Amino acid sequence: MKFSTLSLLISSIIGLSYSQTIYTGDVLEGNKVITKLDINDLPEKSVSYLWFKVPANMVGINSHVPLMVKKGTNGGPRFLLNSGFHGDEYNGIRVVQDTFHSIDESKLNGTVVAVTYASPGAIAGGRMFYVTNSATGGIVDVNRNFKLSPEPTDIGSLMTDGLWKNLYSNNNFTACVDMHGASAGDSYPNLIYGDVRIEYTNRMFELSGADIVKLEIGSAKNTGYLEDALNQINVPTISYEIGYGLSMQADQIKRSNEFMQRIMADLKMIPPTTDKDSISRFEAAQKKTLALNELHIAKNNIGGIVIPCVSLLDKVEAGQVVAHVINPYGHVIEEIKTKVDGYVMMIIRNPASDPLRNIAFISRVNPDESCKLGGCFVP
Ligand SMILES: *[C@@H]1O[C@H](CO)[C@@H](O)[C@H](O)[C@H]1NC(C)=O
Ligand SMILES: *[C@@H]1O[C@H](CO)[C@@H](O)[C@H](O)[C@H]1NC(C)=O
Repeated sequence: MKFSTLSLLISSIIGLSYSQTIYTGDVLEGNKVITKLDINDLPEKSVSYLWFKVPANMVGINSHVPLMVKKGTNGGPRFLLNSGFHGDEYNGIRVVQDTFHSIDESKLNGTVVAVTYASPGAIAGGRMFYVTNSATGGIVDVNRNFKLSPEPTDIGSLMTDGLWKNLYSNNNFTACVDMHGASAGDSYPNLIYGDVRIEYTNRMFELSGADIVKLEIGSAKNTGYLEDALNQINVPTISYEIGYGLSMQADQIKRSNEFMQRIMADLKMIPPTTDKDSISRFEAAQKKTLALNELHIAKNNIGGIVIPCVSLLDKVEAGQVVAHVINPYGHVIEEIKTKVDGYVMMIIRNPASDPLRNIAFISRVNPDESCKLGGCFVP
């Protein structure tokens, strides 16, 4: 008893000295700059607008991730709403903003941390990747760099290092939703990528009312996704893909916002909604959610303008033509077919296509034992 009290005391002292908010002393547009967040330091019933400093760019201009924190009372769960790793996925950013502002901090149990531009360089460029002309140049997908290697080895892992150590991994989050969407020229429905092995991610699937839940088994070492990295430290996390690239879709944003409210209500952070329309929308959507575990990517072999023949969520059969490639005279020069039966989970919107572009994702249920847990792939 004595020993455990002592070790608890020691660990709490170490914990305190180890993870306190670090303010740089800078103030930008009235908001403080930090390099480390510890939710414990913030007062109850407070709203904080902060900048989280990330590595300077190639000409030494500083970069900051906008951060918002609402802390309520009763200790309670800690919910992380993340967005903005990719600069062409706007819907998710708006969901984070709307969800955050909908919360009354005086009635909130626990804390909500909201990140809008997780990769400020990609957002400023308006494209998926952070683009740099340093040395020979390159592109960085920040959300492929959470590989949990102990020290950063390049700009990609350096960009995630501070965020990981001083924001995402040190705040004992109860759950996280990392918002994404289709890339610039593509479209997704309302879609979740989630690890089936984790209890609370399965609960989030149930609460989602998403069109598709794509079941997977992730490993951060392979993928470098924040989702997989957080799951590995027992923070149940899903990647939420919301609609079209380069778009703000009011219907998708509202639908996703209602899902975030359901998670917070499920965690007893806020009361459940009493809005009858919202409840019936969810019940109708939930009945239609497809849980799929296998993915096939249909590609074009010849470059050209690609005209889709199917729409999102269409049911297709193996051998069915999903798109045509046409030449400059308008002749069809290739029929792109699906190899499998399934549902259209992604289809392009921008028709201009280099050869071997991902034209459509067709996803289905493969009952095989090896696929049961998700993550099967048909080349
Ligand atoms: C983390 O959160 C869990 C669940 O709320 C709690 O039981 C645990 O004590 C927390 N750990 C730390 C180090 O704060
Ligand atoms: C907030 O937490 C308190 C104390 O645990 C609990 O009584 C209350 O029901 C919670 N509020 C909601 C909205 O779940």
